[in-house]
Amino acid sequence: MKAPWNDYSGKLSPLKLTVFIALFLPVAWTASEALTGTLGARPLTEAIHQQGLWTIRLILIALAITPLKAILAWQRLVLVRRMVGVAAFAYILLHFALYIADENFNLLTVASEIVKRIYLTIGFTALVGLAALAATSTDRMVRRLDRKWQTLHRLVYPICLLGLIHYSLQSKLEQWEPVIADGIFVWLMGYRLLAWKFAVRGRLPLVWVAGLGVAATVLTALGEAVYFIIAFPGRVTFELALSLNFTLQTGIRPAVVVAGFSLLVLVAGLVRTYVIPPARIRPRFA
Ligand code: HEM
Repeated sequence: MKAPWNDYSGKLSPLKLTVFIALFLPVAWTASEALTGTLGARPLTEAIHQQGLWTIRLILIALAITPLKAILAWQRLVLVRRMVGVAAFAYILLHFALYIADENFNLLTVASEIVKRIYLTIGFTALVGLAALAATSTDRMVRRLDRKWQTLHRLVYPICLLGLIHYSLQSKLEQWEPVIADGIFVWLMGYRLLAWKFAVRGRLPLVWVAGLGVAATVLTALGEAVYFIIAFPGRVTFELALSLNFTLQTGIRPAVVVAGFSLLVLVAGLVRTYVIPPARIRPRFA
């Protein structure tokens, strides 16, 4: 079996090795907090939260690899996509295992809670979906499923959506990070939609990337405003909720973070295109 830090030719890949090590850091952080007793008053709950957060972050990172590979013209980035996806599955297993531990390993209670509580039903559906993707992620399964593999692995989009719904539902009134995650998901899905229609030689023109950033930012701001109106009826108006994006009165709003993310990707794309173009499009005299 090939070591996870080797590339297809069996040579050590510094990129794969770095990502492989980085993927252990969140769980190592939780373990170190558990060992030093700094996980807070409810350590198990806190550990569940941390692993859940890293699951959704890793799914989003895995989804960001295809657009970043194209925008940065960095083909080798795809080498780490499967590793990040499998790590997301490992984190969700840990999240689930800690939840079972929190229920004193009473599997009947776990099962009845999953049936009774809609946010757990949704989370569990996402877990089953991720398990199917992880099980079909070996080289052998990729070869065996051939074209069907890509179709199957598109399931990651609805799985991520389910994970985001689970995240929002359990977060109740604290929706800052869930809304950021939703906004980035909108960007990632929007990119695929636009690339499918307008990509030129596999690359979405940067003007579309800029437009996508604006659209994802506006949708995030609108989404958060709608949430505020529903969560705090009569106390927040739509205009007030939107105006918060232009002040620091209530901290940096999610739409501003999504705008920052979009801008960062756009600037990286501009640098890659005009400052350090990939060898293929570098002028002969350079
Ligand atoms: C792909 C599937 C899943 C994802 C992406 C996910 C993600 C998350 C996230 C991001 C959080 C919130 C962390 C925070 O607010 O700091 C969370 C909380 C939680 N999740 Fe999941 N989760 C998934 C599946 C599951 C499953 C299968 C269960 C158990 C059946 C579960 C049980 C919980 C519990 C109990 C909480 C904490 C709720 C609370 O404290 O009120 N999750 N999850």
